[in-house]
Amino acid sequence: MPSGNDKPFYITTPIYYINAVPHIGHAYTTVLADTVARFQRLRGREVVLATGTDEHAEKIIRVAKDRGMTPRAYCDELADQWRECWCRLDITFDEFIRTSEPRHHAAVQEVFRRLLESGDVYKGQYEGWYCVTCATFHLETELLDGKCPNEECGHSPVEQRQQEAYFFAASRYCERLLAFLRANPGFIRPDFRQNEVLSFVEGGVHDACVSRPNDGWGVPIPGDEAHVVYVWFDALINYITVAGWPDDMERFERLWPADIHLMAKDILPRFHGSLWPMMLMALGIPLPGCVAAHGFWQMDGTKISKSLGNVVDPFALAQQLHDETGMTLDVALDAQRYFLLRETPFGQDASFTSETFRARLNADLANDLGNALNRVLPIVARSLGGVIPEGEMDPALAAGITRAASAVNAGTEALDFRGALDGVWNLIGQLNKYIDTQAPWNLAKDEARRDVLCNVAFSGLETLRCVTVLLAPYIPHAAGEMRLQLGLPPAVEGVFDALAAPRGEAIAGNAVSAGSPVFPRVDKATTRADAGATPASKLEKEPQPVTETISYDDFAKLALRVGTVLAGERVEGADKLYALKVDLGEPEPRSIVAGLAQDFPLDELVGRQIVVVANLEPRKVRGVLSQGMLLAVTNSETDRPCAIVTVDRPAAPGSGIR
Ligand code: MSP
Repeated sequence: MPSGNDKPFYITTPIYYINAVPHIGHAYTTVLADTVARFQRLRGREVVLATGTDEHAEKIIRVAKDRGMTPRAYCDELADQWRECWCRLDITFDEFIRTSEPRHHAAVQEVFRRLLESGDVYKGQYEGWYCVTCATFHLETELLDGKCPNEECGHSPVEQRQQEAYFFAASRYCERLLAFLRANPGFIRPDFRQNEVLSFVEGGVHDACVSRPNDGWGVPIPGDEAHVVYVWFDALINYITVAGWPDDMERFERLWPADIHLMAKDILPRFHGSLWPMMLMALGIPLPGCVAAHGFWQMDGTKISKSLGNVVDPFALAQQLHDETGMTLDVALDAQRYFLLRETPFGQDASFTSETFRARLNADLANDLGNALNRVLPIVARSLGGVIPEGEMDPALAAGITRAASAVNAGTEALDFRGALDGVWNLIGQLNKYIDTQAPWNLAKDEARRDVLCNVAFSGLETLRCVTVLLAPYIPHAAGEMRLQLGLPPAVEGVFDALAAPRGEAIAGNAVSAGSPVFPRVDKATTRADAGATPASKLEKEPQPVTETISYDDFAKLALRVGTVLAGERVEGADKLYALKVDLGEPEPRSIVAGLAQDFPLDELVGRQIVVVANLEPRKVRGVLSQGMLLAVTNSETDRPCAIVTVDRPAAPGSGIR
């Protein structure tokens, strides 16, 4: 079999039950798999990312019946919807397998034939309990108060089954599996899940019931069509069907073993950590490279699940972000993707709340990443003729890029997505400090320091170019939009060097296009988990109607100007006040005192472009000179500032507003 980089990288998601449409939990697994797939492609590997639908469960027959449909018609409709969802999320899957496809039926029947022949599958009598919701057989001793012991299916009622059935002789492979698991600690990831699997197997593996009476839906058992194959036994085989087994052994030899089977912890110990490896052992097929299980997304401490009804719809959430902030839908989906990838270490449970979601997007995307871009691009636009200059790369930033690249490489390889992104955000933090220290807005005022300005602009934008490459597998659309602003093609191809920094694409000489910020801020009303409900902002007290008018001449007296907030600090002894340094394109930044300190952290203001009344009489506020007024929106209910008036594209400081 091919090895190393000749072998295509084969990664799978679970094939999902399609008794409902995907929620954010399914999106999570699929997004993780897509990130790995994009990363491997960027490194030049051929990749096969497979996902699909698991259609032969009894609960599917029931849902179809409730809808007055045949299982086939119902699954055709739902499978199309799932495929469509992954397309809308821009999941770059190469294979979408449905267990109702003929190629899969053929593979399952061939497995059965071979295992019947070897005696690993035999006919017997099943007497026990079955949970239709999670499609699991349980022993009497496993039940919890007479119900399914599985918390994730909400401890559904179980049904007693007494049936002639086929069994898989799992007990024959128990010792071999234990020896394998102990000898291959990297097989189950993350490490700490290895023990869960070990203790499940050490607890004793019984021969497993792998059929049910033929109810007209499922894979008939070859030679005995009174039975169909048990849904889990059928579903796991999808991984080899996709790889071409048994008909296209040339493809199979190239693709197998799968590099990673990805899933959540619910289907690890019993199914992917033990039943599947034992099935492969019985078939004489090598085991996959690794089986990796992440934790659950929860809401209010409960797993997000269609059976429990507490789902978050990824599209409704993205649509709401788009409607309320104006970010493109693709970028809104990326923002959501970023949150999923960054918020929690791989393997741990995570909690979905609108507060954590909003806070992450504002802090990491709008502030850190947005500021870095929006503080350099406008200077190039204004002071360097809109063209990225040649310049010397700052050595500390160059070293930072190398560090970030190795964090992304090592992190993504190890499924430590958060670690990978931490590495990129360390670099972004370093870049923001560099911009603070170099203060290019001051350099731009001094013709004699033009060389230094060129070096700073080049170093800043070259760092951002590398950031777009490193982030391409993580937030592909947003990275693409940033690249367009740097005058680069949106797609990242052939510029990722696994061992060092992203390889050079020339940016000097590119015309920048300083469009609207890629990630606008998300206000408090946005991103409710129950997307679609009336946002809080719309429930606020009606604003008072405007009754008096002023003359045009009076309006013309106001000098409204665009300003860039350079820095700020609290005014001593005043809880509400900040003293801000604001660049209005004048020789010296102005000092402006603003009553924002209780509602906006300073780092949300620094770097932003704001609107200033520039011809107000200067006055002292709490002993600090204020040379103008910043415009903000007042919440009519609380009478406090709730949003800052800003401009939707970078503009030269001092630009007039009419
Ligand atoms: N059909 C089986 C899998 C067969 S694979 C050979 C199945 N399907 S499922 O629709 O129930 O999907 C389970 C998978 O969906 C989990 O393993 C996980 O990948 C994903 N998730 C479902 N809810 C989730 C959360 N709340 N949080 C994280 N992942 C979630 O089991």
